[in-house]
Amino acid sequence: MRIRIRDIEFYYNSTKILDGITLEVGEGENLYIIGPNGAGKTTLLKVIARVLEPLKGVVYIDGKDYRLYNPRELAKMISYVDPHVDRSIPSTVYHFLLTARYPHQKSLQIVESEDDVVAIDRVAKAFGIDHLLDRRLDQLSSGELQRVVIARAFVQEPEIVLLDEPSAFLDIRYRMEVLEYVKRFISSSNRVAIVAIHDLYLASLYADRIAVLSNGRIVAVGTPEEVFSSRVIEDVYGVKIELIQINGRYIPIPVETR
Ligand SMILES: Nc1ncnc2c1ncn2[C@@H]1O[C@H](COP(=O)(O)OP(=O)(O)OP(=O)(O)O)[C@@H](O)[C@H]1O
Ligand SMILES: [Mg+2]
Repeated sequence: MRIRIRDIEFYYNSTKILDGITLEVGEGENLYIIGPNGAGKTTLLKVIARVLEPLKGVVYIDGKDYRLYNPRELAKMISYVDPHVDRSIPSTVYHFLLTARYPHQKSLQIVESEDDVVAIDRVAKAFGIDHLLDRRLDQLSSGELQRVVIARAFVQEPEIVLLDEPSAFLDIRYRMEVLEYVKRFISSSNRVAIVAIHDLYLASLYADRIAVLSNGRIVAVGTPEEVFSSRVIEDVYGVKIELIQINGRYIPIPVETR
């Protein structure tokens, strides 16, 4: 699976939000998108998920214009994880996870198949939510709910995973576990992940490449080392950065605002 994004322009009302976005994400790649609040990260993920329609530009999935896939095919292929979950959905964790299997189910199927049960069981264990399966969504802590919502994307077994701020509510161990799982799943199966994140440290640990978005434009793309050792982070965020090196990784530490 590969994605090619070509010259995407997107407007809310008459305001240009995405301005000529061109990006490629290759097989097995974890691309992280960073950038200030309001830069357009969520909008770009929603365009790739086909939740929003761009005014110009095309997204190609395995060389094919994504508008040419039928909606069911696309729903099976792409999973977009919204950071805002409606926890008032009157559902148990198990049934919420099961809804991710709809694209796999046969049209008249009423009960879950063996494959559905196996997928839910495997992912629930990996995300440390197997003890929560009978709980209702409104009875979970913020971090538990976030793990459930991310897990749901993987229950779908999508080819393309789009994660918007997946780490916001997670403690440090789960931040690492979740992103490690994503990386392993994606790189071992030649799928694609695009992750929008604010935490530069997590990006330095788990991104294969990082794209920096600012005012609706991609201003830098490269390995964490390339991106973080350039001045682009200081320029885009308006903060002074010290770069520290640990285990061969370059980690930007913001030290003061400019
Ligand atoms: N529904 C909407 N109608 C009008 N403008 C919107 C809408 N949603 C977002 N915007 C604007 O589009 C721009 C990009 O928003 P977007 O949510 O993509 O940014 P982001 O990079 O995800 O920011 P954050 O880091 O805060 O999540 C912002 O200026 C925002 O105010
Ligand atoms: Mg956002």
